[in-house]
Amino acid sequence: MTLVEEIQALKKEKNAVILAHYYVRPEVQEIADYIGDSFYLSKVAVGLEEQTIVFCGVSFMGESAKVLNPEKTVLMPDMEADCPMAHMADAETIQKMREKYEDLAVVCYINSTAELKKYSDVCVTSANAVQIVKALPNKHIFFIPDRNLAHYIAEQVPEKEFVYNEGFCPTHERLQTEEVLEAKMAHPKAQVLSHPECTKSVLELSDYIGSTAGIIKYAGESACREFIVCTEEGVAYKLQTNNPEKKFYFTKTVPICPNMKKNTLEKILHVLKTGENAVHVSDELREASRKPLERMLELAK
Ligand code: 13P
Ligand code: SF4
Repeated sequence: MTLVEEIQALKKEKNAVILAHYYVRPEVQEIADYIGDSFYLSKVAVGLEEQTIVFCGVSFMGESAKVLNPEKTVLMPDMEADCPMAHMADAETIQKMREKYEDLAVVCYINSTAELKKYSDVCVTSANAVQIVKALPNKHIFFIPDRNLAHYIAEQVPEKEFVYNEGFCPTHERLQTEEVLEAKMAHPKAQVLSHPECTKSVLELSDYIGSTAGIIKYAGESACREFIVCTEEGVAYKLQTNNPEKKFYFTKTVPICPNMKKNTLEKILHVLKTGENAVHVSDELREASRKPLERMLELAK
């Protein structure tokens, strides 16, 4: 049996389902039952029939799946696959901001630990942040952890006053404006598609800004045939398979998230065989971090 056949057989035997983010390796996306952006994956994780979810992404994703489905087993192919940005905020600062602004809403990007979600009023992803922030009754918004997404959302929702936190995604932060300009010079007909975790100067050069799913949808619907993609290179797999006639370019320094790449077929097989790497969230943490996640799912309907 090949590795893929073994995974498929074990998946049936163990009543398991595989979820994968667009940034994981192509061979992992190929065997996944559901592939998507973080909003889609959090929605899909609720109401699955299978007892075991193998989550090919990073730890905040597996953790959210477990929080929303405490009765299920959530397995991570690699427990070290963590998003550095998910830790870039702290409870003390949140508390200080709550004391400073009476009507503050703490809006937490889903790329955050359950511990940070616990102190937040609502979660968002880049696919629903504008819609959710607009719907909040609060005037002041403390957006954690990502400063780039926060600034981008603030521009879309000028009626709110934002308080910023200094978190960032190292992979998107490394994407150089000069290299985007170089790519534009090399491919003058190409449109620039960016994830809002990119810096302001990269976003200013963009024709479209959105989540990974948004970028894939836009590229599919656009009459344009060439694109410069300013996000993690894993999206190329879907972009290229959906649009074989179109061309997709990245900057010279290709953005790679080393954590997403930790998900391999061998590790998927290993966790399916052994049941190792199950995500655990204490009852107390689950109860507290579930509320902002459920509020997101409710407000984004
Ligand atoms: P999406 O919600 O767009 O899939 O992004 C998740 C992420 O980690 C971006 O770096
Ligand atoms: Fe986190 Fe950035 Fe990797 Fe997304 S690309 S998981 S934000 S480190």
